[in-house]
Amino acid sequence: MVKKKQDNKQPETMGHEWDGIKEYNNPIPLWWKTTFIACIVYSVGYMIYYPSIPFAGKDGFFAGIAGWSQFKELKDEIATGKEQTKNLDEKISKLTIEQIETDPELKEYAIATGKSRFAVNCSQCHGLGANGNKGVANLLDDEWIWGSDIQNIKYTITNGVRDYTNDDTRSGEMAAYGLDEILDKKEIKDVVRYVQVLAYNASENASSDRGKVIYEENCAVCHADAGEGNQELGAPALNNQVWLYGGDRKTLIETITEGRSAKMTSFKELLTEDDIKRLVVYVRSLSDIEETSTN
Ligand code: HEC
Ligand code: HEC
Repeated sequence: MVKKKQDNKQPETMGHEWDGIKEYNNPIPLWWKTTFIACIVYSVGYMIYYPSIPFAGKDGFFAGIAGWSQFKELKDEIATGKEQTKNLDEKISKLTIEQIETDPELKEYAIATGKSRFAVNCSQCHGLGANGNKGVANLLDDEWIWGSDIQNIKYTITNGVRDYTNDDTRSGEMAAYGLDEILDKKEIKDVVRYVQVLAYNASENASSDRGKVIYEENCAVCHADAGEGNQELGAPALNNQVWLYGGDRKTLIETITEGRSAKMTSFKELLTEDDIKRLVVYVRSLSDIEETSTN
């Protein structure tokens, strides 16, 4: 059996007594008192070190001897951030696009900075999501008018398309077969019927047979025999359902009657070489192009 500890000692009193009630002498524990005093000492130090007392000093408050301020902290953080990106910026400057694409950290940085440049320079035409517009290439799909390899994308961005302020611009015109009276209305309808055979596997008939002959004589030079297109001439493929302008009968008739010549600004004078590198990496990341060919 455990014996209960008996404490018969009478507690010490302070010597006061009132109506039979005595005041015991029970001081607060030492650890409590020490912590309390330490806090006071700490707060005095804090007030001297950091900005604290309002309405004192030339700034409208006492600024503290440490010279600390939120603005200064922010400035320092920005400076550290700049230091870090400076390193990556230098690498982008030094390395080729192929090399940038093979370094995952650098590639990610190029994509992020390329994206912001895209928003500023390219989204007016291509859309913020790069999904294009009527007559403006969609950059998310795997269909390329001028080619998806590094050199071709770089060339397109640098020199633009049909921007004749630049002698090196990409050119290649789709003539206005109707307006220029190269084909009459009936011939245009026939060739459209044949384009529908190429694109949608529409059934062949007398009209598409006539259209095939017209196509071979007029169109195959640029769009190729089976409508595969030609990236050197910027002639889009006609044997799939990805359209720059539209694949319905009305739009096809309009395209062939009036011709088409979409224009893209040449960025040679507007962007730096490094900006263009970032943009190439960004654009290529949009459609998950795997190979890093250089042709
Ligand atoms: C003034 C409008 C305009 C601006 C600005 C513009 N583009 Fe274009 N871009 C076009 C058009 C139109 C085409 C399609 C050209 C064609 O039909 O041959 C195109 C085509 C392209 C292509 C080729 C697509 C393919 O299928 O081969 C790339 C790559 C491209 N643009 C990237 C950019 C980038 C990057 C920027 C910003 C630096 C940009 N564009 C700014 C209008 C624009
Ligand atoms: C000299 C080369 C050339 C010839 C010949 C040519 N085209 Fe084109 N065609 C182009 C180019 C370049 C474009 C793209 C224009 C643009 O990007 O704005 C184009 C665009 C088109 C388009 C629009 C495709 C889309 O995605 O919306 C159609 C349809 C088309 N051509 C049909 C024809 C037909 C049919 C003929 C023959 C009657 C023909 N083309 C002859 C160069 C040519």
